[in-house]
Order: sequence, then structure tokens, then C-alpha cells
Amino acid sequence: MYDEALDTIISSGRGRSDVIAILREAQDVYGCLMPPLMEEIAERLGMKYAEIYGIVTFYEHFHCEPRGEHLIRVCRGTACHVRGATGILAAVEKELGVGDGGTTEDGLFTLSTVACLGTCSLAPVMMIDNEYFGKMTPDRVEQVLSKYRDTASVTAEASN
Ligand code: FES
Repeated sequence: MYDEALDTIISSGRGRSDVIAILREAQDVYGCLMPPLMEEIAERLGMKYAEIYGIVTFYEHFHCEPRGEHLIRVCRGTACHVRGATGILAAVEKELGVGDGGTTEDGLFTLSTVACLGTCSLAPVMMIDNEYFGKMTPDRVEQVLSKYRDTASVTAEASN
């Protein structure tokens, strides 16, 4: 199943010391690192599945399930929590119909909570891809998300 592309990624001369780069490239090609892919990589590198799984779950960059087109990060850190992060998360969950770690059925959004986004003075904060949204309120959530939904529908129309 993974033969051709994995052959290229795990080219001769690459071994377990290159495991991070190999996992990164495999994720780029396959979209995520599903268990069967991790098993295959482990076998080819002569490593245990548990070792690969440990690496993939340790680094935030890696993910084991398909992700949406846009990654939403809602901060649940202390500064954001005391300024209403719980309400922001509830509003996002309600808008998307998924909880923390979930991906919407249309594949547009994946929701994730994080310990701190590093912009505490703007609390409560959420982030979509590389864009910050500070001093959030639950009422603004729909408006913020609509920008990404509108972009998706324009793109879909243009490709028809
Ligand atoms: S606690 Fe939310 S940005 Fe730091």
C-alpha cells in the first residue's frame, strides 16, 4: 500500500537516525501518520512500533488522524481561562459540532486546545492556522469562522 512513496522517502542510506525527517516527509505525502503507516515505517527502519508511536505522539507537529484544511487552536491557559476561554471553546464546539481533537465532516476545520499561545495580553485568544484572534468573545466566533467558510465556498465554486 505504501510501497512506492515510502521507497522514495526511505531511500538507501537513510535509517533510524533520520526517523524525524522520514516521519515528517511521510506525513506530508500521506496527510497523517495512521497506525498502519507507522507500523510500516517501524518495520523498514528496524524499530519497534512503540518507538515510532512515542515519537509521533511526543511532537505536536505530528498527527495520527486526518486533519481539516484549517487548524483552530483555542487557548485554555490560565490567562485565557480567567478571561472566558471556556465560553470561547464552547462557542467554537457548538459552531463546528465537534469537540477538542475533532475534525468537521466537511474536512474544513480541526479543533484543538492548547496550554498557551504565547499572547496572554490578548486573552482570551484563539488561532486559526497562523492568524491570531485576541480578546475573543463567544459572539465573535461565528464571524471569525465565516471568513474561512466563505473562502472555502469561493474556492469550491471556482473549481466547478
Ligand atoms: S494563556 Fe492564553 S495565550 Fe497565554
